Amino acid sequence: MTGLLITIEGGEGSGKSTQCTLLAQWLRGLGHRVTETREPDGTGLGQSVRALFRSDEKAPAPLTELFLFLAARHQHVAEVIRPVLLRGEIVLSDRYTDATLAYQGYGRGLDRELIREMNSLATGGIQPDLTVLLDLDPDVGLGRLGARVLDVFEKMDRAFHARVREGYLEIAREEKGRVVVIRADQPRALLQDEIRRAVKEFLARRGLPSGV
Ligand code: TMP
Repeated sequence: MTGLLITIEGGEGSGKSTQCTLLAQWLRGLGHRVTETREPDGTGLGQSVRALFRSDEKAPAPLTELFLFLAARHQHVAEVIRPVLLRGEIVLSDRYTDATLAYQGYGRGLDRELIREMNSLATGGIQPDLTVLLDLDPDVGLGRLGARVLDVFEKMDRAFHARVREGYLEIAREEKGRVVVIRADQPRALLQDEIRRAVKEFLARRGLPSGV
């Protein structure tokens, strides 16, 4: 597989989606072909999964939750990620495997080794080449959500989100070569500059177009 998989991760309200779109624009400007996508809702099936966490129904049991995200991931890899990588292009995904380790593993307390194995099954072993982790204090992130209707995760307490944050940081410590941690509590444009610097360094290391 010759393309690149870049993932953006972070807790609630970290600004991932906006930053993803800005990053995709920049990469296209450098001449790369980029598919911008997201989990769990990067496919039709994934959108249905996502809706299950929005409804007012009783929240799914933790293991059900895990299966749902993994089902969405497998479909996403089959429909979107693998074909793009096979074409030698870039996939930029707002969340991927680390989200399951952070939320279902560190947050819900499910077995992390099991999650790693299931992630590997769901992705056919396709791992991110680079992950940008937007790190933010959950108090700040949750405060940014405003008055809209919250999903199952946004409704979880601060302790849950603190575990998710620590989980992400632990993953970053374990995989320093893959995960770049960037503080998300800065103005949007400065945050984007910092993300671009990290991606630029990564592209240059790979000998790929990275701008002047
Ligand atoms: P968001 O990316 O728009 O914040 O919404 C996705 C929500 O789903 C977010 O609360 C994190 C959660 N999630 C998991 O718990 N596990 C996963 O594997 C993924 C992809 C998302």
